[in-house]
Amino acid sequence: MAVRSVIDVIEPIYVMEGAGVLLRRSIATRTLDYLDPFLLFDHFGSGNPEDYLAGFPMHPHRGIETVTYMLDGRVDHKDSMGNSGSIKKGDIQWMTAGSGILHEEMPKEPEEGIMEGFQLWVNLPANLKMTEPRYRGLKSSQIPEVKRDDGITVKVIAGEFEGVKGAVKEIFADPEYLDVSIPAGGLFEQPVKKGNTTFAYVFEGEGIFGDLNLNSLNNGKSVSATRFLIFDDGDLVRVYARDHVRFILVSGKPLNEPIARYGPFVMNTSEEIEQALKDLRDGTFVK
Ligand code: FE2
Repeated sequence: MAVRSVIDVIEPIYVMEGAGVLLRRSIATRTLDYLDPFLLFDHFGSGNPEDYLAGFPMHPHRGIETVTYMLDGRVDHKDSMGNSGSIKKGDIQWMTAGSGILHEEMPKEPEEGIMEGFQLWVNLPANLKMTEPRYRGLKSSQIPEVKRDDGITVKVIAGEFEGVKGAVKEIFADPEYLDVSIPAGGLFEQPVKKGNTTFAYVFEGEGIFGDLNLNSLNNGKSVSATRFLIFDDGDLVRVYARDHVRFILVSGKPLNEPIARYGPFVMNTSEEIEQALKDLRDGTFVK
């Protein structure tokens, strides 16, 4: 098996989004515009409510899917399909914007802990850009968690780990999305489909990633929180933790299609972006 090596380590940049939410962005930046099929990766979270209470008031999306994973705290949401509710600690929300939705996402001050989570945008292929919008939410208790004897814990959000299938099954790009915790001295290995784009986001501790020699630990790349790392092609991801590390591991099949993006709209051509803006002006955005 070819172990994937690390080809890039990126420090997320702070950006202001929505009505004034401070977050750390790793995809959709000048450094990394697009990591086919992933369009955006944001890490939001702060102990200071002023950094997020302004939230993301009503806004449109078209042509993409979004996956929100809450580590802590709570985000209230509602959308043009009539859905509403709260995404809380450990919950997942995934939404197929398709032809178009309008929604709001409002982080709230938690009773305890901090407000923290991730949002990933996954591209839709040309033939599904205008598919019917869908919204699904999963509670923390519905997300399978594998606890191994060696202390490694994996929450299987999408994809599969040691035969346990993930909670999210209908994202069109068929991504894998794991939340992995490795205790001191633990070795994690996970097969990843050859050809799939694969990244990890380290948000606790430090791990050694890549094609590391298991005796000398040579050739691995030591990466500590908070960093985004991109793997080269191969069919296995290997991570060793000297101390403790927690990261998400995401992979998906690249689409290899042209993209035209304008804020929350991601299409294939600039004409389609113009159409989205026209639909919004004309009040025909939500089909
Ligand atoms: Fe949104």
